[in-house]
Amino acid sequence: MSSHSRVFAVVNQKGGVGKTTSAVNLTACFAASERATLLIDLDPQANASSAYGATDAARYPQVYDALLGNCVMKDAVMATELRHLHLVPSGQDLVGAEIELVSVLERERRLERALADLRDDYEIIMIDCPPSLGILTLNALTAADAVLIPMQCEYYALEGLARLLETIELVRGGLNPRLEIGGIMLTMVDTRNNLARQVEAEVRAHFGDVVFRTRIPRNVRVSEAPSHGKPILLYDIHSRGAVAYLELAEEIQAGLDLRDPPLAPPPLSAFNPANDSTGKESSDGDPT
Ligand SMILES: Nc1ncnc2c1ncn2[C@@H]1O[C@H](COP(=O)(O)OP(=O)(O)OP(=O)(O)O)[C@@H](O)[C@H]1O
Ligand SMILES: [Mg+2]
Repeated sequence: MSSHSRVFAVVNQKGGVGKTTSAVNLTACFAASERATLLIDLDPQANASSAYGATDAARYPQVYDALLGNCVMKDAVMATELRHLHLVPSGQDLVGAEIELVSVLERERRLERALADLRDDYEIIMIDCPPSLGILTLNALTAADAVLIPMQCEYYALEGLARLLETIELVRGGLNPRLEIGGIMLTMVDTRNNLARQVEAEVRAHFGDVVFRTRIPRNVRVSEAPSHGKPILLYDIHSRGAVAYLELAEEIQAGLDLRDPPLAPPPLSAFNPANDSTGKESSDGDPT
């Protein structure tokens, strides 16, 4: 594939390890460096959507509609406060998708298909996955070029990881041979904690370069930002969390073959009522 776009799935079947926080904040950092970025919320919990203030998304087309073929993906794309970042929101409807997709042909390829005609409109696409290895996560792994795995340095972290890596191997052997492991991200790190240091050393010894150098520290500002509908970058750019996510984003971007000059974000669909007011802003004013 000659496309320069890079699709990342943020995956870990373990709950609360920082998938959404990482997807939300990394996409903000990419957008701040003027890379046309798309965040797809593939979790029925819709945490990534609400982190960008998209709480009334139910009135608009959502990722569910694109997966089920009720609309094209482009019509589910909405603006965010950052000019270079667009969002495909999730919502309650997605809860039923696992069951509804059972009877659908090639149900693991729904997201890949839906993304096909807009992948080239963005340089970076990031998919926030639910805490399971069900059909939604399989769709993300099938559509993605690379997996980013957030990991909390605690005792049971490694056990879940083995199962996740097996699943990635399975997908690679069938649905998506080009799938790579983009890297393991250490999240909510508390360097004063002995066990965390031990686990980190073990993970680094075992996975080497697959683990990103940058660690995301546990930082209250990071956990506060979503309730303000903002990524940490717009909430408190001087916080340790913001600095770390900027650094991690840079580390990830350094491994990508990005465009020069950067690609401009595509125009938003007029069919999506969410874009009635924000759509215009998004094409000229630049809050970044
Ligand atoms: N660096 C951090 N510092 C402090 N709190 C954090 C940090 N990263 C994440 N959190 C908090 O930890 C909790 C879990 O994070 P998050 O929602 O990102 O995990 P998740 O893997 O997406 O969870 P789920 O599996 O439910 O989707 C949230 O309350 C979040 O605010
Ligand atoms: Mg989440």
